[in-house]
Amino acid sequence: MTAEAEIIAGLQGAGLTGEGEIILEPLTGGVSCDVWKVETPTGPIVVKRPLPQLRVAAEWLAPVERGTSEVRWLRRARGVKPSIAPEVLAELPTGHAFAMRFLPGCPVWKDELMAGRVDVPFAGEVGRGIAAVHAATAHNEGDRADFPNDEMFRALRVDPFLLYVAQHDVELAPALTALADDLSGRKIALVHGDVSPKNILVSADGPVFLDAECAVYGDPAFDLAFCTTHLLLKAVWSGDARLSEAAAALVAAYRTGIDWEDAEEVLLRAGKLTAALLLARVEGKSPAPYLTDPDHKRIVRDQARTLIRAPSPLGELVAHWKRTLP
Ligand SMILES: Nc1ncnc2c1ncn2[C@@H]1O[C@H](COP(=O)(O)OP(=O)(O)O)[C@@H](O)[C@H]1O
Ligand SMILES: [Mg+2]
Repeated sequence: MTAEAEIIAGLQGAGLTGEGEIILEPLTGGVSCDVWKVETPTGPIVVKRPLPQLRVAAEWLAPVERGTSEVRWLRRARGVKPSIAPEVLAELPTGHAFAMRFLPGCPVWKDELMAGRVDVPFAGEVGRGIAAVHAATAHNEGDRADFPNDEMFRALRVDPFLLYVAQHDVELAPALTALADDLSGRKIALVHGDVSPKNILVSADGPVFLDAECAVYGDPAFDLAFCTTHLLLKAVWSGDARLSEAAAALVAAYRTGIDWEDAEEVLLRAGKLTAALLLARVEGKSPAPYLTDPDHKRIVRDQARTLIRAPSPLGELVAHWKRTLP
């Protein structure tokens, strides 16, 4: 049976298709899974199926881990606030695929930003949304037990983004290795693991978070740092001050949601992680595809290296971020 036929059979088994023709249309997929929009007589849905092997790092990771953690994250996040994640409709029997509700008319935030449509208050909503999930799951033994994905997080996040750069940079290696150890050791809240503008839909009810394959019980500062990094890189790419303002709004809104520990500590860890992630996006295994201009890379690299050596809390980092060469 083809992948498509298996998916259709699975959807029929779950009672999601009704009578009539079913059309599968591939959505722009990433490296780790197949994603289809499925037109059914009862309305459009999305089916996502992890590929048996990733085309990037960590070939050994079983699809079951990634599919299951994503479904669990989506359900948990909807339990915190229903508008921030798509509704999971069914887990399908083949290949750990699942079906979720298709959100019509919701652009991907990255496309909006790259087209110059920078909605600063929306960035604040993103910060509030991530913080809400972190606050709801902080110091929660049940959530900790539900997301025991340390190995996966190490393979897909810690190794490629922090340790890879450490291995190629003798001077920064001690700081980056210490940061990787600290990140791996903190078990504080449920982390999404891939809060990037390309995984956020812009809906009338605010941000909708997708693509939680890297979800882990860990350090919430990581999600904040990951998303801020993307906005700061795009600020350099476009030179647009509103992207720096969006980063500031994200951090400020997130900060108001921190109720599980001292906010200053979270923001200091997030500042260190952001510095490391910025460097990883110009020197690491997974460079930002749009930062090809050598001047842009230099702007990011010079600031990131300085910040790794002399960390600053994330609010300050963002306030001092330079988008252009001096
Ligand atoms: N529930 C949904 N409603 C509308 N579009 C979706 C939905 N889920 C995914 N998409 C679209 O499919 C794309 C890929 O989905 P994503 O979960 O990010 O998978 P990948 O791992 O391939 O990046 C998203 O960027 C978005 O455009
Ligand atoms: Mg994605």
